[in-house]
Formats: sequence, C-alpha cells, structure tokens
Amino acid sequence: MDYSFNTKCVQAGYTPGNGEPRQIPIIQSTTFKYDTSEDMGKLFDLEAEGYFYSRLQNPTNDYVAAKITALEGGAAGMLTSSGQAANFFALFNICEAGSHIVASSSIYGGTYNLISVTMKKMGVDVTFVDPDCAEEELNAAFQENTKAVFGESIANPALTVLDIEKFAKAAHAHGVPLIVDNTFPTPVNLRPIEWGADIVTHSTTKYMDGHGAALGGAIIDGGKFDWMAHKDKFPGLCTPDESYHGITYAEKFGKEGAFITKCTSQLMRDLGCMQSPQSAFILNLGLESLHVRMPRHVENGQAVAEFLEQHEKVAFVNYPTLPSNPYYGLAQKYLPKGGCGVVSFELKGGREAAEKFMKNLKLAAIETHVADARTCCLNPASSTHRQMNDEQLAAAGIPAGLIRISCGLEDKADLIADIAQALDAI
Ligand SMILES: Cc1ncc(COP(=O)(O)O)c(C=O)c1O
Repeated sequence: MDYSFNTKCVQAGYTPGNGEPRQIPIIQSTTFKYDTSEDMGKLFDLEAEGYFYSRLQNPTNDYVAAKITALEGGAAGMLTSSGQAANFFALFNICEAGSHIVASSSIYGGTYNLISVTMKKMGVDVTFVDPDCAEEELNAAFQENTKAVFGESIANPALTVLDIEKFAKAAHAHGVPLIVDNTFPTPVNLRPIEWGADIVTHSTTKYMDGHGAALGGAIIDGGKFDWMAHKDKFPGLCTPDESYHGITYAEKFGKEGAFITKCTSQLMRDLGCMQSPQSAFILNLGLESLHVRMPRHVENGQAVAEFLEQHEKVAFVNYPTLPSNPYYGLAQKYLPKGGCGVVSFELKGGREAAEKFMKNLKLAAIETHVADARTCCLNPASSTHRQMNDEQLAAAGIPAGLIRISCGLEDKADLIADIAQALDAI
C-alpha cells in the first residue's frame, strides 16, 4: 500500500517484525559476522546483499536512507557524514579528471568552494551560470566533457528559486543528469524528482534533523536516468569495474540501482564518509516530525518577512514567497506550500545597525547555522565575510547591513516582538 507523505515521514524505511524493536535499532557495530568465507566472498563480489563493514553500509543508516528515498520519491538512497560529502559523492560518482560540470552560481559557499577549488584540483572543471539565465545561455555552457548539472532548489543564502524544469531540460538535451540540493525546502515543500531532477542531495544537518543535533547528508537517485543510453559519457557506470571482478553497474543493477550501488561500493569504500549509526538514529527522530515542523517554519518565516517588509528601519527583505520578490512566480510554481523559514533582510543603518540589532535580540541566537528548531541569525559582514570591506561586500551582493534569520518553531508573536524591540534599540 502506498501511504501518504505524512505517514511516510513517521513510518517509512523500517517495519519491525514480530517481537522486534518498535524504534529503529542502533546497530553500533563496525563489523558483521559470517559462518563461512564463501558467504562473505559473495558480499565482496556484490553477488549477495548484506553488511560486512560499517565504512560502506550499516543497517541503521539504510533504514533512514530508505525513509528519505520514499519521501523524495526516489529509487535508491544512501546517507553520508555531511551535506558536503553528499554533494561531493553525487558529483564525483560520475566525474573524473577531465570532466566538466555546469552549476548554478547561486549555491551554498561551501559547495561553491568544493566545486571551484577542491574538485578543480582533481581535474574537474566547472562553468557557473546565473540560475535566471535564458535557455540559450544555459545550453551554451555545456561542453563535450560535461557530466552533470548542479543547482540548489532554494539557494543558501541568496534564497533564489531554481527553475528545475529549465535546468532538467538542458541537462537531458545534453545527455547528463540534473543533481539538485534540496536542503532548504525539504521534500515536504518540494520534490525535485517530480519536476525532472535525476538525483537529489541533502544536508540533513538542517531541517531533516531540525534540532541542531547531528551532522549528516543524503543522496537519493530518482532511478530514471538511462546511463547506458549515454555509455560513452559514463564509463564508471557502463564499463566493467575491475575492483569488483568486472561487474558493470548499469547492467547488473539497472537504472534504479546503479548510481547508489557504485557510490556505496566505490566511494564509501575508498573515501569512507559514513554517517555514524547514532547520528542516523537522531536524524530519524527529526524525520518523524518533518511534515509537522516544516509548515511552522514556513508560517514563522512568512510572518517575520511580512513584519520586516513594512518596518521603517529595513531597506529590503528577501523571501521568495513575498509578492514583492523576484522569485515569487517561480515560488508559486514550485513552492505552493511555502519554501522554508530562512529570511534575509538589510538594515538601513549598515554594519553598525546590524551589530546593534543582533546584540539586542533575546530569542534569536547568533549562530553559523540555519534550519534549527531555535531561531538563529547571522550578519555575514561581521562573521562569514568579515575579511571584506564595505565596497567588496557590495560588489559581492552582500550589503554590510544584511542579516540572515532562520525562523525556528517558537511562537511567531514572540519572534516578532523580539525583532521589534531589537529594531527599536538601533
Ligand atoms: C544548501 C546546503 N547544502 C550543503 C550544505 C553542507 O552541509 P553540511 O554542513 O551538512 O556539510 C549546506 C550547509 O549549510 C547547505 O546549506
């Protein structure tokens, strides 16, 4: 039976048998026991399913990955130790030295560095495109060696909304998959696979955990991309892997299983960015209430954005579901239930006003974090971007008085009262 999305948040991924634990068991074991070497050999040859070492796979993690896969409407999924690891693995599973990526320029700074600095050192090139560019410009960014297109459904911190259908169309016209980081809306508010994305990634550290408790990431494959139809582009999936006795992932595991099986059996084996089973257990507690929490984050974000927009000390507010926002049209299409609880706004008094405002907040804490049950905020000019002067900040599109506030699950009246008194103090 196919249950509703809300029911999947609570129960998908793990169904206990008679007399088994009701809650997901934490299998805190690095290794697994076998009766014969032959039994274990079958696992090493990918001839049988099972666990042998938690650097590659662990049952607790697989229960939780199966839940996120069900929520995204995917075919297969895996957990990683962080969102950074998820994006790196998703890209590196199909890229190698000499490959090229087309990526939206409006993405999280950590992912921008990963692609433009670290992966570049590995010989993977990138062309960044403005997510709002015309289709011709997007198509012109592709090269013979392009292997993937990457974007964020709602970008951190710019809050731009990705036109997933436009990006999927361009990716597919060039025979490559679209990878979408869906961290901010979560599958509660947007499921990229339904709009044509092939692979979805998450920093589960954010709303999925939702309590600032466990670092983690996830990769979900929609299972629709036909690797064999683009055999020459994806030799890692479509030609024999000598490190597994010559199996060909796309042949043996099909469209539904090839990507995640290769990512687990090669990248996890060799790079080992596995989430701990303890963290996976904590993540699952967050997932059980994701469908209840996200609407409250959205309600609080919308209320705070509307309050700030009419305040005389505020220069502008950036929140995609405000009618004044340039992404309002795309938000109505892709985010009919709202986006997330993150709002950014600029104070008229610049850096000094921002510092005074934040010092006077009582509920909202100053943190390098978003998507938590507790409201938190950050002034990039005095923290993440403090090496830049006001002119450099303006050139980067980050005014000195910009504040990012991640609205938590508190009562919106209390949040607004806190913000109002801190604005009065400026
Ligand atoms: C959209 C997005 N993707 C990926 C990451 C990286 O995730 P993590 O911090 O879990 O490594 C972040 C972190 O803020 C993010 O906001």
